[in-house]
Amino acid sequence: MDNQKTFYITTPIYYPSGKFHIGSAYTTCLCDTLKRYKTQMGYDTRFLTGTDEHGLKIQESAKALGKTPLEHVDYIAGLAQDLWKSLAIENDDFIRTTQPRHERVVKDIFEQLLAQDDIYLGEYKGHYCMQDEAYFTETQLVDGHLCPDCGRETEIVAEETYFLRMSKYADRLLAFIDEHPDFIQPETRKNEVVQFVKSGLQDLSVSRTTFDWGIPVPSNPKHVIYVWIDALSNYISALGYDSKEDALFQKYWIKGDEVVHVIGKDILRFHAIYWPIMLFALGVPVNFKLFVHGWYVMKDGKMSKSRGNVIYPEQLTAAYGLDAFRYFIVKELPYGNDGLFTPEDYVTRFNTDLVNDLGNLVSRTISMVNKYFGGTVSNVTADHPLAVYPQELAALSQTVFENYQKYMDEFKVSNALFEVSRLVARTNKLIDETSPWDLAKDPAQKTMLEMTMYHLLEAIRLATILYLPVLIETPVKIFDELAVQEEFRNFSAYEFGKKATYTVTEKPIHLFPRLDVEKETAYIQSLMNAGKPKKKEVVSKPEIGIEIFEQNNLLVGLVKSAKVHPNASKLLILQIDTGDKVRQVVSGIAEFYQPDVLVGKKLIVVANLKPVKLRGELSEGMILCGETEQHALYIIEANQNLEPGDNVR
Ligand code: MSP
Repeated sequence: MDNQKTFYITTPIYYPSGKFHIGSAYTTCLCDTLKRYKTQMGYDTRFLTGTDEHGLKIQESAKALGKTPLEHVDYIAGLAQDLWKSLAIENDDFIRTTQPRHERVVKDIFEQLLAQDDIYLGEYKGHYCMQDEAYFTETQLVDGHLCPDCGRETEIVAEETYFLRMSKYADRLLAFIDEHPDFIQPETRKNEVVQFVKSGLQDLSVSRTTFDWGIPVPSNPKHVIYVWIDALSNYISALGYDSKEDALFQKYWIKGDEVVHVIGKDILRFHAIYWPIMLFALGVPVNFKLFVHGWYVMKDGKMSKSRGNVIYPEQLTAAYGLDAFRYFIVKELPYGNDGLFTPEDYVTRFNTDLVNDLGNLVSRTISMVNKYFGGTVSNVTADHPLAVYPQELAALSQTVFENYQKYMDEFKVSNALFEVSRLVARTNKLIDETSPWDLAKDPAQKTMLEMTMYHLLEAIRLATILYLPVLIETPVKIFDELAVQEEFRNFSAYEFGKKATYTVTEKPIHLFPRLDVEKETAYIQSLMNAGKPKKKEVVSKPEIGIEIFEQNNLLVGLVKSAKVHPNASKLLILQIDTGDKVRQVVSGIAEFYQPDVLVGKKLIVVANLKPVKLRGELSEGMILCGETEQHALYIIEANQNLEPGDNVR
C-alpha cells in the first residue's frame, strides 16, 4: 500500500548497570502497545529500542565487575534483548551504540558540526556530576554543591573540551516550540522546557578527555564524544542516516507521517533541547513528537536495589503471567505523572479487571449460550421492552472505540484502557438488566434471550479487539473459545453486528485464576525484600600476635616483564625486581590484567614464601591482591615514593 501512513516510535536506549526493573520496562511496554495500536490502525510502523553503551558510568561498572567495558555491554545488551523477547516486545530493530553503523554516523555528525563551527574547542571548568555525566551551573546546584537531578555530590572538573553552540539556536528552538504546540507532551513538560531555555542556554560541553570509553573525535582522538551526543544520534543512525542505504531514514523520518520519542521525565532536557538543536545544526528536520512519562515509584521513594524495593518483570510474569504484567504496567501509571507501585494494587487490579470483569464475563456468557441455545446464537432483534439495553450496549461500543482512539493518539494509554473496562463493565451490566435466567423460563421471551446472548458475545469480541495492543495470550484464547474467524479478530472488524452468528466452545476455560489478596501481596513483598543487598560478609580469622605477622617478608617489587603462562591461560608469569634480585612470580590474575598493563607497576611481594612450581614454572613468592565480592582481583599497588626492596610492615 503506497498511501499507507508511517509511524516511527522509539524508546530511550538503556544503560542499566544490571537487570531491568519494572520501571525501566514501562517505557518499552508502552511503546510496544502504541506500535501494536498503530499497526492495527493500518499504519506502516517501525519500533526502535537499544542500548546506550558508552560513558564513564559503563567503564566504571565494568571495572567493578572485573570485566572489560565491551564484555559488560555485551552482557547488558543480551539481558535487554532477552527481556524484551520474554515480554513479547515487537521491536523492529535493536541498536547498540558500539555498533559500527552507529559509531560512524556519530563521528560524521561531530566532524560536520566542527567544520561548520557549530562545535568549537575551548576549556570548561565546572560542577560535574559523575552519575549523570552532566555539568551544572552554580544556580542549578542544590545547597551549592549537590546534583539537582540525583542529589549526589558534584566535583569541580576542568578540562579542554569541545562546545556545541547551543545559545545560537535558543531563539529558533523557542519559536519551534511555539509553532508546534504538540511537540512536547504533556503541556506541563513543555512549560518546563520553555522556562529552562528562556533562563539562558549555555554552550554545551560535548567531549571528554577524562576517560576513554566512548567514540573518539576523529580529528582529535584524545577526546571522546559526549555520551548524549552519541546516544541521541541513535534515533537516526538506526535508520541509515548519512549512509548509502538510507531508505528507512527517507521513509520514516524525512517523508514519515509520525515520529515519536517516548521518554521518562528525567531525560527531558536532553531530548527537548539538545536533540532538536543538534538536528537544526545538521539541517535535519525536527519532525518528532516527544511524549514524556512519569515514573513508577515505591512507597519509600525511588526504586533502587539499596532500598530493597525493586521488583523485576520476570518475577511478576513467572507468578501471574505475561498479560497481567503488560496490562498492569501500562494501565496503572497515570498520564504524565508518577504512579505508585504496590503489591496490593497489582493483586487487586488482577482480581477486579481480569478475573471478575473480563474472565467472569467470558465464562458466564459461554455457559449461558450453551445452556439456553446449545452453543449457537445469531444476531436477532426482539420487540421487547428490555431490548433497549442491548441496543444501548451496541451504541456504547462505538463511543468507546472513538474515545479509545482519541486517547491512544494522545498517548493516554491508561485512559484508553479505562474505556475498554467501561465496555466490559457495561456488558456485565446487561446480564443484570435482562436476567437471562428469568427470560429462559418463558418460551415467548426466547428472541429477547437470544438477542441478549448475541450482544454479550459481540461486545466481548469488540472489547477483546481493543485489548490486542496490550494483551498477547488472552485474546487468542477468547477468540478461540468464541470460534471467531481470523477476519473478525482485528480493528478493521470493529463494528457491532459484523459477525452474524456465534458457535461457542462447550466448556469455558478459566482465563485468570482468582488470587488470594493477602497471600499474593505478601509474596510480591517478599520478592521485593529478597532484593535487599545483604550485609557484606567480611572474612574473619582468629587473632595473631605481631610476632607472627612479622614472619612475613613483604617487599616492594617493580614488575619488569609479564607474560601469559604457556600452559595455563589463567596464570601470568611476572619478573619482579625486589631489590635483592629479580624473582619470578606466577600469579592467577590473567583474567583481570593484560600482561603489558602490569609492566612498570610497583606492588607488594611476599618474598619468603617457599618456592613452588606452578604448571612447570617456578614461583618465588606471591603478589598481594584485593578480591571483590564478584571475585575480581585487583593488585595492591605501592606508593610511587617506595623503591624495589623497601620493607612493607
Ligand atoms: N541511556 C539514557 C537514555 C538515552 S536516549 C538517547 C537513559 N537510560 S536509562 O536506562 O537510565 O533509562 C531509560 C528509560 O527508563 C528512561 O526513559 C527512564 O525515564 C526510564 N525509567 C527508569 N526508571 C523508571 C521508573 N521507575 N519508572 C518509569 N520509567 C523509568 O536514561
